[in-house]
Amino acid sequence: MSELQTYQGPATMEKITSLAKRRGFVFQSSEIYGGQNGAWDYGPLGVELKNRIARNWWKEMTRLHDEIVGLDAAILMHPRTWEASGHVENFTDPLVDCKKCKARFRADQIPPECAAEKKCPECGGELTGVRKFNLMFKTRIGPVESDDDSAVIYLRPETAQGIYVNYKNIMQSSRLKPPFGIAQIGKAFRNEIVTKNFIFRTCEFEQMEMQYFVKPGTDVEWFNEWRKRRWAYYEKLGVKTDHLRWHQHGADELAHYAKDAYDIEYLFPMGWKELEGVHNRSDYDLTRHTEYSGKDLQYIDQDDGNKEYTPFIIETSAGLTRTLLMLLCDAYDEEKVADKGGEDDYRTVLRFHPAVAPVTVAVLPLQKKDGLAELARDIHAELREDFATGYDQGGAIGRRYRRQDEAGTPFCVTVDYETKENSSVTLRFRDSMEQVRLPRAELASRLFQEIKAYKRTK
Ligand code: GAP
Repeated sequence: MSELQTYQGPATMEKITSLAKRRGFVFQSSEIYGGQNGAWDYGPLGVELKNRIARNWWKEMTRLHDEIVGLDAAILMHPRTWEASGHVENFTDPLVDCKKCKARFRADQIPPECAAEKKCPECGGELTGVRKFNLMFKTRIGPVESDDDSAVIYLRPETAQGIYVNYKNIMQSSRLKPPFGIAQIGKAFRNEIVTKNFIFRTCEFEQMEMQYFVKPGTDVEWFNEWRKRRWAYYEKLGVKTDHLRWHQHGADELAHYAKDAYDIEYLFPMGWKELEGVHNRSDYDLTRHTEYSGKDLQYIDQDDGNKEYTPFIIETSAGLTRTLLMLLCDAYDEEKVADKGGEDDYRTVLRFHPAVAPVTVAVLPLQKKDGLAELARDIHAELREDFATGYDQGGAIGRRYRRQDEAGTPFCVTVDYETKENSSVTLRFRDSMEQVRLPRAELASRLFQEIKAYKRTK
């Protein structure tokens, strides 16, 4: 194999999928059985990345706000929840089948020329009429095998409802009053008709949602405020801002609960696609839960003569797994690093922000021998208490740097013979490939500084 890496062109979904598998970010679920459509498994680097994105979002959405608290509600909820929320009635996609090749499509995603003639985009065959298909996974609870409808239960299609049904519990136990928020990260399930583009749209996925309860009349102001804050969140993560844009939902796109909605879209390799939704859900959800549960979910405003009102809800709803895909695409770069005898040499590098990189710092002994590995192990042991660390002692140092670049590790610490002499180490920066020498004793504080001051430049 040539030592040189050639340029393969800009990020494509094929490249991202292949890197994700090769480096252990994401694997096809049940691969040895031919794979399970719409489901994916997160490998060692993937689960670290996912956890770190989740932790970072949690910090941004709860720890940095006095009035936002967390919740972890059950996936299985009382089935009346989904009648109240409108999902049983409205959470449907329009479905058509090809009578000839049996392929299945979402009617709203068929190319206009095929839709006009009602013909299959794949084989030209005749299409069936449009049927409404509910996206909720329906199962049964308890030891029942009959078609007993009283045992029907759903896997939640959004985490939001767990928050709404708990809003009074939380307001009372946490002594909160509007405006206040509840944040939650968790799994959601949708029986998607079309699951393509890797982990973009899957049947099992994770959401990071925050519901902000406000006084009616202040909702538009808070809606605009949360739009600003969510945009700033992606800027802070160093996401390319020219790959982000707003899309306001037209009347035909608004979800059944929404008074107004904007998506933050990202320019994925397959085009502009939704990343996160910011929704003004009005008092729809709490009013419906009041109606279906018979419980009064109004807030009594003691600061305003005990007037009662049903709070409006501003929702920020991001896909965790979709954010992971976005960050993989956004971080991906192939950079020319050298011109070797007329041939260019490239490296593949994932420019993750240190706040989410699966490994923050890797420790590499220059050689295994002469006590360098032991010394490196010792430094590694010291750092791992405070940082997400890696250790690699196999192969030439240049190759090991490349491996770390490809995993998105922002910092490498190299331990060499000088370390033995004067206890200094080399700190190597992923993005610039620059190296600085510093005393081992200053390593941890320097890393904290670098992480805090990190600005993406490439
Ligand atoms: N609670 C509101 C809600 O669920 P949504 O626009 O249906 O709104 C919010 O979903 C976010 O969840 C999307 O912007 C996307 O990031 C993520 N998401 C939705 N469906 C998904 C799927 N099938 N696979 C992966 N992520 C999905």
